[in-house]
Formats: sequence, structure tokens, C-alpha cells
Amino acid sequence: MKITDVLRAEHAVFHNLFDHIEATVPRLKTLAEVKALAAVVDKVHAPHAKTEDDLFMEPLEHCFDQIGQQETFHDEHEMIDAELAKVHKAREVKAAKKILLGAVARSREHFDKEERIVFPMAEHILKAKTLSELGQAWLRRREVAEK
Ligand SMILES: [Fe+2]
Ligand SMILES: [Fe+2]
Repeated sequence: MKITDVLRAEHAVFHNLFDHIEATVPRLKTLAEVKALAAVVDKVHAPHAKTEDDLFMEPLEHCFDQIGQQETFHDEHEMIDAELAKVHKAREVKAAKKILLGAVARSREHFDKEERIVFPMAEHILKAKTLSELGQAWLRRREVAEK
């Protein structure tokens, strides 16, 4: 499997998670519940963003430069992390909800941009063999992590 297809499959899980968060957060009563959801997003987003950074930042750097995306691609990962971290600093449930839902909205925009621009560009620039090898390497990493 190509690494870009692995990442698309992960995106599908995120979209379900984001749907769930947007549907449930307005009804939550406690700060702890909102923070627990933010922690889930953070835990699953961090390794996903690291894979993307490791894979794409260097080989695609010149392309990002050309379309003026070099900064926003990696910066958006840090911005999402920073927004999620802010949820944990919130003292009131209403504020925490607002920050978390804002982070989810920003994440959706970021994921959309990757699906429309970054992944197709990676598939254009990197060889099919490289994309498959990176996909295999990803699978091996998961197997090691599970043992
Ligand atoms: Fe990303
Ligand atoms: Fe992504």
C-alpha cells in the first residue's frame, strides 16, 4: 500500500472522530470530559503529523515553496498541537469547548488541504516504488509497536 493511501485511511478515522466530537461536545457537562476528548485527538494526531513531517517536508520542500505552502504545512501541525494544548489550560467548561471545537475546525481545513494538495503532489513527485516502500515501512513500525 502506498504511504499516501495509509495517510488517507488515517484521515478517514479522523473525520469520524471529528464528527463524534462536534456532535457530543455541546452536551458535555464537565471540563474533564472536554479535556479527555482533546487528549484523544492529540494522541492520535501527533504520530500522524510526525509521519507526514518525516515523509513530505524534505522531498516536497521545493514544491511547497513554489505554491507558497512551505510554512503552512508544518506550521499547521504545530498550530493544531498548540490549540489542543490550550484546551488543557482552560478553567471553564464553556471556554474549553470553544477551543476544542475551534481546533477541530482548523484540523478539518488542514486535512482537506492535505487531501487536495499535499498527497496528490507527493504522488506526483515521489516514485510509485518509494511510496510503496514507505507504506511497508509504516506497517512494520506498527507491527513493532504492537509487540
Ligand atoms: Fe497533517
Ligand atoms: Fe494528515
